[in-house]
Amino acid sequence: MKFQYFMPTRIFSGERCLAEHGAALKQLGTKALIVTGTHSAKANGSLDDAVKALAVNGQAYCVYDKVMSNPTIACAYEGASEAVSNGCDFVLAIGGGSPMDAGKAVALLAAQEKPVPPAEIFSASYARALPVAAVPTTAGTGSEVTQYAILTNDAAESKTSVATPLLFPRFAFLDAAYMRGLSQSVTVNTVVDALSHAVEGMLSVRASSVSDALAGESIALIASCIAAPGLSDLDDEARRKLLTASTLAGMVIANTGTTAVHALGYSLTYYKNIDHGRANGLLLARFLAFIERTKRERVAEILARMRLKTVDDFARLLDGLLGKREKLSAAEIEHYAEKAVKAANIANCVVRPEKDDLVEVLQGSLG
Ligand SMILES: [Fe+2]
Repeated sequence: MKFQYFMPTRIFSGERCLAEHGAALKQLGTKALIVTGTHSAKANGSLDDAVKALAVNGQAYCVYDKVMSNPTIACAYEGASEAVSNGCDFVLAIGGGSPMDAGKAVALLAAQEKPVPPAEIFSASYARALPVAAVPTTAGTGSEVTQYAILTNDAAESKTSVATPLLFPRFAFLDAAYMRGLSQSVTVNTVVDALSHAVEGMLSVRASSVSDALAGESIALIASCIAAPGLSDLDDEARRKLLTASTLAGMVIANTGTTAVHALGYSLTYYKNIDHGRANGLLLARFLAFIERTKRERVAEILARMRLKTVDDFARLLDGLLGKREKLSAAEIEHYAEKAVKAANIANCVVRPEKDDLVEVLQGSLG
């Protein structure tokens, strides 16, 4: 069996891991740019812990805390200019997917000798990036272990990845204590994103025995937590499982890429402002049903990891999490399918969907 697997990020997992292993940050530089959102890292204690770890190491820092959901290209450039003007030589990205993706883009842009024009950010070839450490505070994106920085791309009316191995964080610090105050809707949306990564990884032509092992474990961990109605009242143990699951799923998509679910989901986020994870969750069961027609055994493996028997059981479980579904018009469905069928990640699908198949997935999910 021919395959490649690459994962250069050192992971520290466990309560107080930033305090215990913060000395590792000394390897990254002398002055950090902490990239984060406007408030959650302050509220959940992760920013304080990061600052303390830097202080113990004798490292200086600045904070760029203006990252919004679905970060823009302008945000990445603003952060990069903060890094350059303050002489920062590494990035510490703290938060959910948006701050981590923005932090990675900042690390890339800040390291370029010749400025990259914004119109070329997704196509430029990069030779260097500032080193990055990541502290996820949600269990969804897996960005702490991927080579992707996903930004809103207004020119393409979508979200697009800057992808280079330079963007793999050097360190990921996984402390589920930062997730204690997450709202139920953030918990659901992020968990569904992680589940989508693991499932899509198993439905990718780039899947291998290594990525399958990681994806299967991720799916099983998530399945063990989502029996609680709407993922309410999660205890610390469940939060730890979900954070591990999302990192495992990130390791999967770092190697398999995502598939049609993400390709379609980006339009739901760009045009309808539907949260990224929720967008994937809304589409996942119908995509599974599409794949099942050709690859029944593969889908059965996924269902088995969830201790489910049928795709209908899977759909019911997600319906219980996602609640009332948004609706799309026929014109919107046509438009989104047309865009997605041209997306690069369509080529990853183990059964390559035609435009009509994508229309059917959208129609069944949101029609
Ligand atoms: Fe995702």
